[in-house]
Amino acid sequence: MGIRVSKSRVLNDQQGDLKLTHGDVLDALDLVPDQSVQLVVTSPPYNLRKIYERDQKMSLDEYVAWLTPVVENICKKVTFAGSICWQVGNFVRDGEVFPLNYYFYNMFIKNNFKLRNRIIWRFNFGLHSTKRLSGRYDTLLWFTKTDNYTFNLDPIRVPQLYPGKRHAASKGGARAGQPSGNPLGKNPSDYWIFSAENCFWEHPIWEIPNIKANHPEFTAHPCQFPHELAERCVLAFSKVGDTVLDPFIGAGTTAVAAIKANRRVIGIDRSADYLRLTQQRVVNLRAGNLELRPSARGVRQPKAGERVSQVPDEWSQAAE
Ligand SMILES: C[S@@+](CC[C@H](N)C(=O)[O-])C[C@H]1O[C@@H](n2cnc3c(N)ncnc32)[C@H](O)[C@@H]1O
Repeated sequence: MGIRVSKSRVLNDQQGDLKLTHGDVLDALDLVPDQSVQLVVTSPPYNLRKIYERDQKMSLDEYVAWLTPVVENICKKVTFAGSICWQVGNFVRDGEVFPLNYYFYNMFIKNNFKLRNRIIWRFNFGLHSTKRLSGRYDTLLWFTKTDNYTFNLDPIRVPQLYPGKRHAASKGGARAGQPSGNPLGKNPSDYWIFSAENCFWEHPIWEIPNIKANHPEFTAHPCQFPHELAERCVLAFSKVGDTVLDPFIGAGTTAVAAIKANRRVIGIDRSADYLRLTQQRVVNLRAGNLELRPSARGVRQPKAGERVSQVPDEWSQAAE
């Protein structure tokens, strides 16, 4: 089971739109009124023995048993028109892969939430496996409490592949010969790629990079998700003034995205260090000096002349 740290402690921010609680998620959720949160954006620990979960060694069954009441509690916090964005990867034990989104899907369905999208977000680096194919994607499950939910498509549209396409003139009708797309762009789809320079403008998919040491958003947190991932969820599934909850807030990616978009934030973490990091990032955001990778920009690709993109001489000689 998850280790319960001492009693929850609330740290209120001076401007009142950021409320952070230091404590175990289950205790801290007791401080959040039911049906008070319009959106949850989070990624729980994956039980992968990251530095923040080394004291929580759990079997898969124990992990599921720990998170089942957490999910149940989170569901109660969400308003009638609210949503939950739950981002998870795979749990891997002895080379066997357990897709966590499958287990979480079942938990949310039992709480009568409805799955609207299972978003695949792809990144292009990580550990190279030797006995199976390297894992290069995570999933983000978007659930809603009811059929009457917030969904703002316009702020997250992406450019069309063929913006010049028109309705066929030969078919007649009021729109014959007019552009067939939306000038604001098209629906970004449920497949989000986080990589590759120019990709955003030249291809119809969003590429957002995972966070590496040379990334402008990089913090000391080992499992930060990209700002753009949180930003897209906030813009699409909540409104200005809404409250966004992240019950495992880590380095505060959700807080930064939400406050930047004029939402209020409730964040929980068992680590005081990560909460301090979250606070500091929000302070920097407000002061205009938080480094964020601009949204909707492709990832840098090494240029042909750079050493890292050239085949090593040793390999070329071996092939001769
Ligand atoms: C996957 S990380 C979240 C990263 C975050 N999305 C970000 O972008 O920085 C999970 C977080 O859950 C926190 N955590 C783990 N067990 C917890 C518990 N029982 N109660 C509250 N927080 C917990 C960890 O300290 C860690 O920061």
